[in-house]
Amino acid sequence: MLNKERMPVHVAIIMDGNGRWAKQKGLPRLAGHNAGMKAMKKIVDHSDKLGIKYLTVYAFSTENWKRSIAEVTGIFKLLVSYVNSDLKELVQNNVRVKILGDYSALPEDAVRSLEKTLEETKGNTGLQFNIALNYGGRDELRRAVEALAVRVKNGTLQPEEITEDMISAELYTGCADVAAPDPELIIRTSGELRLSNFLLWQSAYSELVFSDVLWPDFTPEEYEKAIADYQSRERRFGGR
Ligand code: IPE
Ligand code: IPE
Ligand code: MG
Repeated sequence: MLNKERMPVHVAIIMDGNGRWAKQKGLPRLAGHNAGMKAMKKIVDHSDKLGIKYLTVYAFSTENWKRSIAEVTGIFKLLVSYVNSDLKELVQNNVRVKILGDYSALPEDAVRSLEKTLEETKGNTGLQFNIALNYGGRDELRRAVEALAVRVKNGTLQPEEITEDMISAELYTGCADVAAPDPELIIRTSGELRLSNFLLWQSAYSELVFSDVLWPDFTPEEYEKAIADYQSRERRFGGR
């Protein structure tokens, strides 16, 4: 049973294992990504039911461009069909979609669908659903450093005046439009024990929960198990 008083405000998920799921079933990798989108949809709905305020999912990393063109374009096609077919439902469910990452590098139809989704959900007041797309933690930090360096160069900021809050504010999660707190909980599926360039700054004190389940098999029950694990942890933040 989950403790309603100790629900994380922000949960972030590294949705991993689509390829292995497909391989196990003798299916093409894209069938795994398709099944992964369906799993994601259920987790979005369930997050809202649990009263979670922010859900961030890692959908495509800055390193995922290394995959075959067929896989990369296939992933974006699935994404477009997900946002197009689910836009109504997202609006109805009061979900506000935000993107973390430079999505301008995606194919044109994907950019258009995403912008429509951002626009049509921006007034919603329920769950904030952040999709990390062409996202990399190092890329995000590099951009923040550049933005602050520009302010130093034009004389509006002194180097010694730079604070941690200023750095946070320059990240995708910190811009006024997204304004997500650091995630209390980061879940990674598929048994891999690493962050793979996800939320490097924001994860400083996140609780990490690793699940052996491959992402397409990740159900609301598995999700609740991960949250229960989080709730059993003692968070200390360096204090005693
Ligand atoms: C995660 O599943 C989805 C993306 C990275 C886009 P993978 O495609 O990485 O699946 P595995 O790790 O090969 O099983
Ligand atoms: C992390 O998974 C990225 C996403 C889930 C989008 P990867 O499958 O790309 O990570 P590695 O290569 O196993 O570290
Ligand atoms: Mg993977």
